[in-house]
Amino acid sequence: MKILFIGDVVGSPGREMVEEYLPKLKRKYRPTCTIINGENAANGKGITEKIYKGFLDAGAQAVTLGNHTWDNREIFEFIERAPALVRPANYPEGTPGQGYTIVKINDMEVAVVNLMGRAFLPPNDCPFTKADDILAEVEKRTPIIFVDFHAEATSEKIAMGWYLDGRVSAVVGTHTHVQTSDERILHKGTAYITDVGMTGPYDGILGVDREPVLYKFLTNLPARFEVAKGRTQLNGVVITINDKSGLATAIERIVINDDKPLFE
Ligand SMILES: [Fe+2]
Ligand SMILES: [Fe+2]
Repeated sequence: MKILFIGDVVGSPGREMVEEYLPKLKRKYRPTCTIINGENAANGKGITEKIYKGFLDAGAQAVTLGNHTWDNREIFEFIERAPALVRPANYPEGTPGQGYTIVKINDMEVAVVNLMGRAFLPPNDCPFTKADDILAEVEKRTPIIFVDFHAEATSEKIAMGWYLDGRVSAVVGTHTHVQTSDERILHKGTAYITDVGMTGPYDGILGVDREPVLYKFLTNLPARFEVAKGRTQLNGVVITINDKSGLATAIERIVINDDKPLFE
């Protein structure tokens, strides 16, 4: 089976890229399951129910989140009735929502897990031991386990890759909005990439307007960030997984922008 994962979708430019390119990517790669990181989908901060449902209508089976999970307050109204929405699992006990979901596709099940790093991010529970806890639950049901590790530090992400090597199908990093070119299959069969990158503005700074970001760097004064306009990009990965073993045999990066158009 194949899993298509699309990196952090930022605002309406990102959503428009998903609408335009997801059908084309599905034709090209024929994924069994499509997962989207939607933590920046609502104007760069969080997600709304309409956007979440829009991703499912566009052909995704699960939507993962990250440190921006709670930034749009609407989340508190719909997170408990959003079975395909996954927020970081290592939030404190009692946090609304779920840290993983099981997607059913024909006779297969895919566990989709979201974890968040602790380096340069709020101090949540340990993502490594949380991963152990979740694996103990989901391993009984399916060998196909996909982990979106939302983290800043490359070291923490690589550590998670090796920690889960051979125990999950894939560990893909999100959050930095910059795609890394270190995709590989680890020794025991887990597909890994430090960061998938982002989907949305191509000429901004991590998806937001350049001017306020530059102003902030130059003055240290607060600035209001807006999702950038103009040209757009899509970043993702497609992972090939053995249905029986749950181990990966291939991981391919997807980059679509004006400099690297999609060849269908
Ligand atoms: Fe993000
Ligand atoms: Fe993030």
